[in-house]
Amino acid sequence: MSPCWEARADLLVVGTGVAGLTAALRAQSLGLRVLVVTKAAAEDGNTRWAQGGVAVVLPGEHDEGDTVERHVADTLVAGAGLCDEHAVREIVFGGPAAVTKLMALGATFDSAADGRLARTREGGHSAFRVVHAGGDATGAEVERALLSAARDGRIPVLENHVAVQALKTPSGAVAGLHVLDGAGVPGVLTASAVLLATGGLGQLYQATSNPEVATGDGLALALRAGAPVADVEFVQFHPTVLYTGQGARGRCPLVTEAVRGEGAVLVDATGARVMAGVHPLADLAPRDVVAAAITRHMALERGGIDDHVFLDATHLDAATFRTRFPTVYAACASAGVDPSVRPIPVAPAAHFACGGVVSDVDGRTPLVGLYAAGEVASNGLHGANRLASNSLLEGLVVGARAAEAVAADLASGRLADPRSAVVGALPVAPVADRDSLQRVMSRYAAIGRDAEGLAVVGSVLDVSTVDRVLTSRVLVEDAALTLVGRALIASASQRRESRGCHVRNDFPERNDAWRRSQLVRLTPSGQP
Ligand code: SIN
Repeated sequence: MSPCWEARADLLVVGTGVAGLTAALRAQSLGLRVLVVTKAAAEDGNTRWAQGGVAVVLPGEHDEGDTVERHVADTLVAGAGLCDEHAVREIVFGGPAAVTKLMALGATFDSAADGRLARTREGGHSAFRVVHAGGDATGAEVERALLSAARDGRIPVLENHVAVQALKTPSGAVAGLHVLDGAGVPGVLTASAVLLATGGLGQLYQATSNPEVATGDGLALALRAGAPVADVEFVQFHPTVLYTGQGARGRCPLVTEAVRGEGAVLVDATGARVMAGVHPLADLAPRDVVAAAITRHMALERGGIDDHVFLDATHLDAATFRTRFPTVYAACASAGVDPSVRPIPVAPAAHFACGGVVSDVDGRTPLVGLYAAGEVASNGLHGANRLASNSLLEGLVVGARAAEAVAADLASGRLADPRSAVVGALPVAPVADRDSLQRVMSRYAAIGRDAEGLAVVGSVLDVSTVDRVLTSRVLVEDAALTLVGRALIASASQRRESRGCHVRNDFPERNDAWRRSQLVRLTPSGQP
């Protein structure tokens, strides 16, 4: 089908989460014509589900002895040897100004009794430096503040429009997007620059903390445009989503790590501590360590009869729990659990893509005209395992820097003239059955992988994919999940070691010969 409608801007931002909206606001302030596009309603991204907070060391607000340098050091330790220290420093040192700016835009963070900002601690942090809002509703407040600023500034947001593929110029620069509107009518958006801020890929798995929009769209779009992705094997599993019965599916309510930050501990059905003797930080060890320990504990300690453990927060009385963690409390209440009376049943679930589209701290990818920020990007901040609450921080810092990079690149003449974008037909891509894909990914490519299981995923993908023209949002999403699943399996099969979130049962040790990122690109036949 040929495109039926067209619009033009200087910068197209794909996604309305923290990175996309921050970029759009900054771009507008720099005088760029910006157009934001999102496949759902503007509020529907992953940002609003973030609970714990924003990790940041703010002047005058921090613990005695805490410093930005310590935050950098904690990030590097959590990243298990794969972070890019330059990127970590740039982003973490950019945090205080970015959060101050967000507060100036109207975001309100919780205060402590001494009048300073309340701060909590999460896995891998050596200090109380995670600021939060609404108790455990930080993402909702960040999203509210950014969206209301974007609306006040009349930044145009095309809702219910899904990006299908990048448009390129004859010289290979990205200069727009092929898009389907809510009725499936194809259209063309042209621009000198496209910023991917599409979030993650949690829907590759049956159980995830991510909402249904997290289908890896930006990664797939970038791969098809010819951009490399890196570190996709590192999918972070959150140790504690609410367990509501066997065969949990779809978005599972998160039980923020901040509950452990406030003293809760993981126990099994006999009351034995899960994290005892596993790591010096015990229940506040980095997230990869805790999620892997729970998985091991369930498989080994009680003869494999458990499919969940418990988070014991009974030291907090009901009123304290409800005030500090209203979102978690409500989710527990709807599952019939009173956390002040009995431990919360929890299990790990897919949570965050540590890898993504290869880019620098200014969002620039190797493709002229293509930028990436937020969870979809791989800029070296997270390495093999993201430090808790570094992601909202990343979206704020890199989102703004990416807008500045676009403005600079436009001014220097580095970007292409969008009028030369070549508009072809809608693409044809392999599409797997989503249920089968999620089932095999959850069984063989979650925490604890081996060569045999990864090969099973590969063969299921091979036999269950059918080439389809991408004429609807669902087909775009399923094609994205299929391609990203393949990229993940290719990377996970090659990495013959265990590091961070990538746990190989057949290669259980870390091997420093593998202390490097793996890049994936598409071959001319469309395979990762
Ligand atoms: C949480 O609140 O535990 C999640 C925070 C994060 O993923 O950074």
